[in-house]
Amino acid sequence: MTSPAIGCSGAPLATIDSDLLIVPWFEGEGPSAVAAVDLATGGEIARALASGEFAARPYDLFVATVTDRAWRARRIALIGAGGVGSTGGFSSDLVRKLASSAGAAVRQRRAARAAFVLRDDSQPPDALPEFAQAVAEGLTLSEFNVGSYKTTEPAPAPAPAWTIVVPGDDGVARASGAAARGRLLGECCNLARGFANEPGNTLTPREFARRCEVLATEAGVSVEILDEHQIEKLGMGLLLGVARGSSEPPRLMVFRYEPPGAPVGPVLGLVGKGITFDTGGISIKPADGMERMKDDMAGGAAVACAMRAIALLKAPIRVIGVVPTTENMPGGRAIKPGDVLTSASGKTVEVINTDAEGRLVLGDGLWYARQLGATHLVDIATLTGACIVALGKITSGIFGAPMPWVEQVRRVADRAGDRVWPLPLFDEYRDQLKSDIADIMNTGGRPASSITAAMFLKEFAGGLPWVHLDIAGTAWAEEARPYLPKGPSGVGVRTLAELAFTSGDWN
Ligand code: BES
Ligand code: MN
Ligand code: ZN
Repeated sequence: MTSPAIGCSGAPLATIDSDLLIVPWFEGEGPSAVAAVDLATGGEIARALASGEFAARPYDLFVATVTDRAWRARRIALIGAGGVGSTGGFSSDLVRKLASSAGAAVRQRRAARAAFVLRDDSQPPDALPEFAQAVAEGLTLSEFNVGSYKTTEPAPAPAPAWTIVVPGDDGVARASGAAARGRLLGECCNLARGFANEPGNTLTPREFARRCEVLATEAGVSVEILDEHQIEKLGMGLLLGVARGSSEPPRLMVFRYEPPGAPVGPVLGLVGKGITFDTGGISIKPADGMERMKDDMAGGAAVACAMRAIALLKAPIRVIGVVPTTENMPGGRAIKPGDVLTSASGKTVEVINTDAEGRLVLGDGLWYARQLGATHLVDIATLTGACIVALGKITSGIFGAPMPWVEQVRRVADRAGDRVWPLPLFDEYRDQLKSDIADIMNTGGRPASSITAAMFLKEFAGGLPWVHLDIAGTAWAEEARPYLPKGPSGVGVRTLAELAFTSGDWN
């Protein structure tokens, strides 16, 4: 499951032994920007720049054969990095994407050995570790295979052996650890993508829990999988209510990471939505596109895979992960609109729409994370179609209180390359959830329905610092981009994992 390490080298470009040497190139740069590579290709690069064949537009690739026999690389590939001005400089976010897109190109060419060059003039010297980590993340992300059930196409090319070329031996010393960290985070993203890609018939709640148990236990996380009877003993009427419509029993995954010598607090509590298939239940969804609802556990997968990363990277604080997992099906015993459920926290919920199931299972999950001692909560869920209407497919919604905690998670997400943008949680929105018969309704009508979903969750956060990430639009790429193929994105894994390393900045 673990892929070969990504090496770092500070040797001169001419001595890098590889099939393809990838060099980022900025718009407007002449051949002298990296004069050595132009010379090595016998002036091919100068010609391509002069004729406009290669204009360094983002993700454009220009491949030239190395003619200088003294060089050990066979080919050089320039990858367009766009204009420095228009993209706000060479960011770790951009280099992650360039690496991912270069990785895909290298695999297409079936190269066995490839190198990605971090030019000494392209990032501020003190940002080298951050950039090296981002490159390793991007290269690793490009190794994910979407077509895991294809039997008639040739197997996808094996991933090449990668080297990141950094400025000098001093660069190697500073970049190596960061590259290893990026490698691991990328791998954990790919594991989460594998879960989201898995069909609902193979990834049932029991199977999801079993696989997550394996990968978290391996990493040294203690894992408990609660079955339907234990869930009932805890009084989790919301999770059990959603599970009633299915003949597959629900599970509650509980992860505990407690490094020796960690302080008593803070304790990070991560809660992920684990609906292995969402038909909508009795409030059934239209058939068109329903197959996509196999990824309704992407938040839960992000939590499980972040727990693995957190343990392997040895975060300095205690972290608790909770993933309620079930199908949402319209069976004969399914909950019906108008039914009232009692949550583990004691609050009663009138179910208006059985398709608003994510907030139900998360309500009990958030409560349990608090019971287990979490002091700071983050939940992550493919929660509302309305979030796609508001923010589209490239940005996750971020909600929560108090603001410093929201800002903290937001900063970490920005650095991790998971795009998020805040939506408000003004008290007045709570009115939309008032029920005539119970404490709260599970839907608040069409207006601001991503916000009212978050307001519902807030009821279960017990006043702790809490953030909700709505990844309905970002968990799955509908359109292929150079740096992200169509399919599961692994959103959230890096943010949740990196967050566990920032407790020095909390509150
Ligand atoms: N899993 C869906 C949200 C979703 C929709 C994710 C589309 C990805 C793409 C969620 O359980 C759901 O059905 N939400 C409803 C809530 C509504 C009934 C208040 C929705 O968004 O329509
Ligand atoms: Mn639903
Ligand atoms: Zn759902």
